[in-house]
Amino acid sequence: MIRHVIAAIATILALWASYHMYALDKQVHKLQEIHRVIKASEIKVHLQKPTIIKEDVQADNKAAAEKQLKSKNKELDDKLQALRNKAGNAAAFKVSKLYKQNCSSCHGVNGRGIIGPNLVGKSKEFIIKQLKDFKSGKRRNYVMYGLLQKMDDEKLNKLATEISTFKEKWDKYNNQ
Ligand code: HEC
Repeated sequence: MIRHVIAAIATILALWASYHMYALDKQVHKLQEIHRVIKASEIKVHLQKPTIIKEDVQADNKAAAEKQLKSKNKELDDKLQALRNKAGNAAAFKVSKLYKQNCSSCHGVNGRGIIGPNLVGKSKEFIIKQLKDFKSGKRRNYVMYGLLQKMDDEKLNKLATEISTFKEKWDKYNNQ
């Protein structure tokens, strides 16, 4: 009888031990996996960053050099992020076909002005008045006069409404 009890206890102990071995093994595997993922992401981050040239780092002791390297890295990260934002913003700043075809060549696709003045931040009322004055010749400008002859009030209204939203749009996309 007692032998049976001992045998049973031994079996239980053996099972318990092998279960623990299994659990430990799993944990080691998990750690290896985490390590692998970290390594892979390090490589990726490294590839995205331009390498810093040695001459850029002009510090005579190691700690200062590392600090400088870190701040340079941060600078690059910020620049990269700013570029990404800009690229996204330029694509996101959509204008109507009417504006793009008739006005953007001189006032810019975003209304910031090229040959013509900046239109961003000007109110709808102001813009519509200028357009009507240009069209009637009250405000003299040959370019704007000629251009607006073929446009009816509805189009002028549409354009003024659209342009008056440029500021909000511009601010929104630049704060993303
Ligand atoms: C060929 C170039 C050109 C095109 C195209 C053009 N503009 Fe202009 N625009 C100008 C110039 C130059 C002025 C400045 C005129 C002045 O100061 O007398 C101006 C002035 C204006 C003004 C007055 C701005 C202010 O601050 O007084 C508005 C509004 C305007 N344009 C809207 C438009 C709209 C809307 C379109 C499209 C339908 C358009 N423009 C197309 C050249 C252009």
